[in-house]
This record gives sequence, structure tokens and C-alpha cells, in this order.
Amino acid sequence: MQADKRRPLVAGNWKMHGNLAEARERALAVRAGANGLACELALVPPFLHVPLLAELLRDSPVAVGAQDVSEHASGAYTGEVSAGMLVDAGCRYVIVGHSERRALFGDTDAVVAAKFMAARAAGLVPVLCVGETLAEREAGATGNVVLRQLDAVLAVAGSAAVCAAVLAYEPVWAIGTGLTATPAQAQEVHALLRAHLARKDSQGAAAVRILYGGSVKAGNAGEIFAMPDVDGGLVGGASLDAREFLQICAQAR
Ligand code: PGA
Repeated sequence: MQADKRRPLVAGNWKMHGNLAEARERALAVRAGANGLACELALVPPFLHVPLLAELLRDSPVAVGAQDVSEHASGAYTGEVSAGMLVDAGCRYVIVGHSERRALFGDTDAVVAAKFMAARAAGLVPVLCVGETLAEREAGATGNVVLRQLDAVLAVAGSAAVCAAVLAYEPVWAIGTGLTATPAQAQEVHALLRAHLARKDSQGAAAVRILYGGSVKAGNAGEIFAMPDVDGGLVGGASLDAREFLQICAQAR
């Protein structure tokens, strides 16, 4: 696959951390260091911080994303935020199927597919996360799990929509644990995902960006991003430090 056709994306998933003042400071620091980087950058704050970031990052190379979205377009869904509202607030991306949503908030494969569709319908670019648990890896089920998660969305959205989105391979055992997949482990799964898509849409599969996530840091990003099917990263903990986040972004070329 020709990695040079895909511009890498590095997205910082801030999760549920910080207050508005910290969000402002961090976003401005990222903005100040973002010019001239080869990769595309995105910051993904909690919902309440989205409008602030959209304002601070307007006309900058840094896009804004959200961490989740309702599967419904509107209606009596207390506590939910629709894809249209996210677009209105300035989002370009939205994460769907993050393993924390799947494990802690009941997001099944079907719900993830519905959220993917809702995001697309509103004009957001979904960042679809897939990944296996440690038990699944040890049982040799990694490939089955990630392809099941991908197929659930493919069945509803079709390959053109999936290839127009962004995929993220995030092994659950590597998220927030300090354990990272080796570059070879990441490459193996990324290549599997791309080959699976290529059977349906070879051009789309060659163009789709597949990010790696799970304890990416300045010290390990370069070797992971150098893998041919790794097109950047979804960075959690290390994205809370603007300097380190920018150091990670600088290694995505
Ligand atoms: P981490 O999180 O970098 O803190 O492991 C990644 C993610 O959950 O997106």
C-alpha cells in the first residue's frame, strides 16, 4: 500500500480531563506549534469544551472533534448530543466505538454502526475505533474481533462510507496502561483491516487512514508511525501535554 498518498492524522483525545482554562491554554499551545507540520492535527475535548476550541482553533491547521455522538438525529433523548449539534458547534470529527464507550457505556457493534451513520448523515467524519482485549489477543482472536467490529459498520454503512471515514486500531490492553503494541503488532492489524476493505473497494482501502492508539508517547510514536499501514495516531494521555502532543505530531510524516 502506498502510504505516501495518505496524509497522516494525529488526534488528541482529551477524555474527561481539565477545565475550560486548561483547555484554552492547551489548545492555544497546540495551535502555536501546529504550523508547518506534515500531519493533520485534531483535538477532541469533552462536549462542553468543543465551542471554545472551535473558536480558538478557527483558521488554524487544527481541527476539532467530539468523543461521542448520539445515534439519533434529534428528539427526547435526555443527556444526548446530536451529530448536527456537533457540526453546528464546529466539529469536523467524532470518535465512535471507543473501547471505553463499548466497555463502560454499552455501545454494542450495532449502536456503534448507528452512531457512525448519524455522524455521516450530519457531515461529520467518524473516527471508528476497533480493538481487542488482552484475553482476546491471548486467545488468538484479535483478527476476528477487529473484523467483526469493522463488519458491523460495513454492513450498515457500506465500504465507500467506511473508506471515507477514519479508522483507529486501539488494542484495549494498550489504552492508558503504558503498554503499547509493538510496531509489528500494530502493522499486522492495520494491514489486516486494510486488506479486508480492499476486497470490497481497493481504491478506498488504499486511501483510508488507519490510526494507531494505545499509550502513544513522544518516545514511541516515531517507530509506530513509520509502519506502512499506520497513518497517524489517536493519542489519549500524552495529548494532555501540548508539548508532548506536538512532539508526537512531528513524528507523523
Ligand atoms: P492513551 O489513550 O493514549 O491514554 O492510551 C488512547 C485512547 O484511548 O484514545
